[in-house]
Amino acid sequence: MARQKITVVGAGNVGATAAQRIVEKQLADVVLVDIVEGFAKGKALDMMQSAATEGFDTKIIGSETYEETNDSDVIIVTAGIARKPGMSRDDLLATNAKIVTSVVEQTVERSPNAVYVIVSNPLDAMTFLAWKKSGLPAERVVGMAGVLDSSRYACFIAEEAKCSIKDVRAMVLGGHGDSMVPVPEYSTVNGIPIEQLLSKETIEKINERTKHGGAEIVKYLKTGSAYYAPSASAVAMAEAILLDSNRLVPACAYVNGEYGLNDVYCGVPVILNKNGVEKIIEIELRDESNDALHKSANDVRELCDKILTAV
Ligand code: APR
Repeated sequence: MARQKITVVGAGNVGATAAQRIVEKQLADVVLVDIVEGFAKGKALDMMQSAATEGFDTKIIGSETYEETNDSDVIIVTAGIARKPGMSRDDLLATNAKIVTSVVEQTVERSPNAVYVIVSNPLDAMTFLAWKKSGLPAERVVGMAGVLDSSRYACFIAEEAKCSIKDVRAMVLGGHGDSMVPVPEYSTVNGIPIEQLLSKETIEKINERTKHGGAEIVKYLKTGSAYYAPSASAVAMAEAILLDSNRLVPACAYVNGEYGLNDVYCGVPVILNKNGVEKIIEIELRDESNDALHKSANDVRELCDKILTAV
């Protein structure tokens, strides 16, 4: 069987690191595309020259154009500008909207069966836009952030509970912005609710730290935003799609009816497999979490309304 193919658009920090993770895992061959001439080609060549040492047979090529992306199984979109200190993800809206639109227009007919994993920010609005521009069924366009925000939450839970991160399951729902919703009632250490292990104050503290997890990193980096955890999250989603593994993860999906929300993309628990979002899982939320989810979805909706006028 031919190896599967992932196109990664954007060969910057997130895209190149995602590409590296994919080839090193031997998950799929990669086509790395970037608008800057030579940028993706140079990075791809560099990665290929690590294959002998790392021991992978997967191939990666770079390009400024899209011919090589034909018949991709998954398209990860990281193209766009990243945040600088003092910027919110929403400040990227107008620039990234144009970029994401052009990426979708250039890929959608070439890879009629692909599932899109959107990473560019502001994430939920970009995923909504990619879906609108692609004309694809909504299940084939999914956004990355729930996996990332949950892995940030898991990191802080493990640190505070002084336990192995391998035993932590964390859940963050809602949009990928300041109003995201860490959900302690569905976050556990090997099945034990974190509320039995950590004080209310500690949970409140790590909830806040999770919501601003990206900004904390931007503040340190100064010239860009996070990419190790974002690339790992995008690749985990691509893997669930390629391997048809029915992973249950929080992801930015098209919600229409579930959770009392309508016609909006936002972070909810989903089953992810070769079809993309196979199913949205509706879980019972405490009133507090449910209200926060609705508020967060409203914030996303406002951005989505703006975005349609920005492109
Ligand atoms: N087509 C292809 N690539 C493009 C296009 C385009 N139209 N426009 C920009 N790019 C490329 C840039 O040339 C750059 O190499 O996208 C890449 C973005 O890389 P970085 O600036 O390093 O940004 P990165 O940290 O990877 O973040 C990318 O993901 O997490 C989000 O907020 C982040 O929106 C940002 C995106």
